[in-house]
Amino acid sequence: MKRILILGANGQVGRELLDASRPLGEIVAATRDGALADGTPCLRVDLADAGSLRAALEHAQADVVVNAAAYTAVDRAEDEPELADRVNHRAVGEIGDWAKSHGALVVHYSTDYVFDGSGFDGSGFDGAGTRPYREDDATAPLGVYGHTKLAGEHALAASGAAHLVFRTAWVYASHGHNFLRTMLRLGAEREELRVVTDQVGAPTPARWIARTTAAAIARRAAMEAKPGGVFHLVAAGRCSWFEFAEAILRGAAERGLIVRVPRIVPIATSDYPTRARRPAYSVLDCARLENAFGLELADWRLGLDEVLGEIAAGSG
Ligand SMILES: NC(=O)c1ccc[n+]([C@@H]2O[C@H](COP(=O)([O-])OP(=O)(O)OC[C@H]3O[C@@H](n4cnc5c(N)ncnc54)[C@H](OP(=O)(O)O)[C@@H]3O)[C@@H](O)[C@H]2O)c1
Repeated sequence: MKRILILGANGQVGRELLDASRPLGEIVAATRDGALADGTPCLRVDLADAGSLRAALEHAQADVVVNAAAYTAVDRAEDEPELADRVNHRAVGEIGDWAKSHGALVVHYSTDYVFDGSGFDGSGFDGAGTRPYREDDATAPLGVYGHTKLAGEHALAASGAAHLVFRTAWVYASHGHNFLRTMLRLGAEREELRVVTDQVGAPTPARWIARTTAAAIARRAAMEAKPGGVFHLVAAGRCSWFEFAEAILRGAAERGLIVRVPRIVPIATSDYPTRARRPAYSVLDCARLENAFGLELADWRLGLDEVLGEIAAGSG
């Protein structure tokens, strides 16, 4: 029986991991405030505090450490670079060091924001030569968040610990802070929503990430030659934020979650300035995940149906 330590168990992916990882063994959960979303007490770990991280790692003595905690406030990171670096980079290196000396596997998440979104060949948003990013394409983060996440990937690799890094993107769930929940809230309040149309990616349900993570851990355990390193993990297909908003609001209206679909106006990123710049082209090629583990995610539209269905069923 394996022991799985889940750090960040109150985040979008972390919450889904609590369920998805159950078949893998004994789960030890950790959150920043020492309690799960339903109030159940768990380990308290603040990744900004190396002592609390070390204590939890020693206490749990896990075979697999899954780090779903991260400093994810992309704009705020521009003003708090040291904290973002501590959480997304240095803490990840410390997890790796512990895992290396204890023979544990580290599973960690990274982001499409390690790329600048100009396409692997720099031909720009939807440039003629653009194809989805592969794991070994050149990275060039646009902001502090992306820089610190990339530094975390490197620190984990440098630790020498066995590891899987899943780079994902555009994560959402029926719970937590995400674009879908913002659209449902604003869609119920406003006549008109303005949404950017010149950024494309693949909206990926946190539940799919958690299920794929659990399946990869299980399959890897049974493999002779154990795969490791960075893997892209996103839903299939692609859309712009504008197209995603349209699909969310149409689907929500069909399910009675909102009374009518508001007018959705396509705008350019330049019309919606944010503190941090975001990559325009965020589509990731997941062939490496499929080749290594035989795992493939379905189209983003199916994911949206699933999450809206969950919200409509009131189980979110
Ligand atoms: N969200 C996205 O669109 C997206 C896209 C690409 C990659 N990712 C990556 O996917 C992974 C999971 O993201 P997510 O969407 O599940 O993130 P999330 O919902 O923002 O959850 C992050 C969790 O990390 C916890 N956390 C933040 N700072 C911490 C600290 N100092 N110590 C301990 N815990 C801390 C938060 O705790 P509190 O609950 O106490 O705030 C939260 O529960 C992350 O590695 C993220 O970088 C996410």
